[in-house]
Amino acid sequence: MFKAEVSALQLEIGFGGGEHLMHRAKEAPGTGFIGVEPFVNGMAKMMTGLAKAPLGNLRVYDDDATRLLDWLPLGSLDGIDLLYPDPWPKKKHWKRRFVGAANLGRFARVLKPGGRFRFASDIDSYVNWTLLACRAHGAFAWQAGEAADWHQPYEGWPGTRYEAKAIREGRRPAYLTFMRR
Ligand SMILES: C[S@@+](CC[C@H](N)C(=O)[O-])C[C@H]1O[C@@H](n2cnc3c(N)ncnc32)[C@H](O)[C@@H]1O
Repeated sequence: MFKAEVSALQLEIGFGGGEHLMHRAKEAPGTGFIGVEPFVNGMAKMMTGLAKAPLGNLRVYDDDATRLLDWLPLGSLDGIDLLYPDPWPKKKHWKRRFVGAANLGRFARVLKPGGRFRFASDIDSYVNWTLLACRAHGAFAWQAGEAADWHQPYEGWPGTRYEAKAIREGRRPAYLTFMRR
């Protein structure tokens, strides 16, 4: 599946320009990374980057992540990153958010027990929404020790393009980690 030999598998959904995904793939050559981005400009940027510096442990998919999630085998992933998903801030659009019972069910199916789902957002209503949805789903245990952990970026965090814009505009990101029970 990968040109490189890999012993773990990570998925990033909606990688945008791909800066975070490329960073992670470079720092962990023994892990296979799959990146999904249906937005053509994001994928073009990624392909340009990969043409200059190919990575044998990275593969990309240019369609809706739900299609890939339904194709992946049961318990095949060690981690899923959903970093700054489209926020849909208006209440009437909340049902369009990527996090919901159906997609959490998909995550629960493809993650190994002990696997991690990481969710970052600068939109408070989406952070609360995700905490409630994961609690209601039941397969995910939130890994925060205390509330302040929300604002602690992940280890080795390089940031993302969207995040930089959110911070410039005065919003404070939250970083959630859930473990697949
Ligand atoms: C707000 S942007 C954030 C991009 C990047 N993660 C960052 O932080 O810079 C959300 C991205 O999710 C992608 N996206 C939206 N729906 C998606 C889906 N169903 N499957 C995969 N990616 C999706 C969009 O094309 C967009 O690039």
